[in-house]
Amino acid sequence: MAPEVKPNALTLHAEVGRADVGGGMEGDAWLLNGSLPSPLIRVRKGERFHAILENDVPDPLILHWHGLTPPADMDGHPRYAVREGETYEYDFTVENRAGTYWYHSHAHHRVGKHAYLGIAGMLIVEDEEEEGLGLPSGEREIPIVLQDRRVDPERGLLHYSNPDTVEGVIGNEPFGNGVNYPYLEVDTAVYRFRILNGSNARIFRLAREDGRPMTLIGNDAGLLPRSEDVEYVDMGPGERVDLLLDLRDASVGEVIQLGSRAFHIGTGLAGEQQTHRQGHPLELLKLVVAREVEDSFEMPGTLADPGGPDPADAVRERTFTFTSDRDYHTRTMMEHHINDLSYRMDRIDERVPFGETEIWSFINENHFPHPMHLHATHFRVLSREGYRGLVLPWERGLKDTVLVHPEEHVRVAVRFDAHPGLFLLHCHNLEHEDVGMMLNIMVER
Ligand code: C2O
Ligand code: CU
Ligand code: CU
Repeated sequence: MAPEVKPNALTLHAEVGRADVGGGMEGDAWLLNGSLPSPLIRVRKGERFHAILENDVPDPLILHWHGLTPPADMDGHPRYAVREGETYEYDFTVENRAGTYWYHSHAHHRVGKHAYLGIAGMLIVEDEEEEGLGLPSGEREIPIVLQDRRVDPERGLLHYSNPDTVEGVIGNEPFGNGVNYPYLEVDTAVYRFRILNGSNARIFRLAREDGRPMTLIGNDAGLLPRSEDVEYVDMGPGERVDLLLDLRDASVGEVIQLGSRAFHIGTGLAGEQQTHRQGHPLELLKLVVAREVEDSFEMPGTLADPGGPDPADAVRERTFTFTSDRDYHTRTMMEHHINDLSYRMDRIDERVPFGETEIWSFINENHFPHPMHLHATHFRVLSREGYRGLVLPWERGLKDTVLVHPEEHVRVAVRFDAHPGLFLLHCHNLEHEDVGMMLNIMVER
């Protein structure tokens, strides 16, 4: 597991190094403070977040705190990237409720490479409201960064080059907290798993292999109003879920496997034409029951109120349509567009008034799934038409990333009420983002 740190004059030193990925294997990686994944940052709501990024990798670099809503110059917009040998200072107050957030590089055209090589970690916010619930904590709280990678001992374990911009980079092996084929010894107790899909492009349909339910308690922006038992959870890159697994009736020696189930992606290129592995099953995490203990945990009847915008207050609608084409000039590179645009750092694409509620429509007109992510606020998912056709249990409450499959039309209620300034809307398939599936959103007072 990654070391835990506090953002209290924290230095995050980025450098090229070696990482132990378990099973006696080591590979070249890009590391923050020598750790793969990056250190886990734990902070309380209302606390000061003071961190200095020292860039010693041979690329421009900037960090983004995914899910937090700091002022625009603290949010890791790619225009703030610093060169090798330079530093960037972050200093803001954490205004967000308790929840499972994360952070990663946001250097333009290089997010996929940087996250794949290791510059990504978890960020947990705690607050009093959540503490009052007595959820499993300490050794019973397991934060997990799930990623897939292509293990290639010849070219270097974490080799990243000529990324596939069509599907994004999809690996063939699971990593949990930087470890290949991760496993964990557990007690016969109730566990809280904070799970991040930190993959570049792979979508997980996360489930227990024995088919037993998992108890969903939270997602991108913290706890849901009530828990709900689910058989599986779909997670696009960037999405988080907070799950309780009740292992009290397991027996010592039993192995409980968490994995990603097979699924289709609408009229996407899954199935026959599929050359990639999107939607193929994958083992993710093995839990080995090691000790029998007593655990009298009781699920609270209600959890927390996520708040958020009310669609009845909406004053305006906007539509974002996703299409994919071959690049006109090179004919080889696949580009993914939002409203026919490809990202330009110096162009403002949408101007949105601060504090007003709007309805945004995400319409996917092509063959690729797009996990759409918005900076600077969280949104409420109102409806989904086409393909999966409904708002799923893990999309209740507030989200900052929502998976939009081919043929789907997802409507969300959005209100920017944290800070004005220049922020981003983009696909969190990191190769889609890197080829320009991103817009500049100017929040104006
Ligand atoms: Cu997690 Cu703009 O990204
Ligand atoms: Cu973000
Ligand atoms: Cu995409």
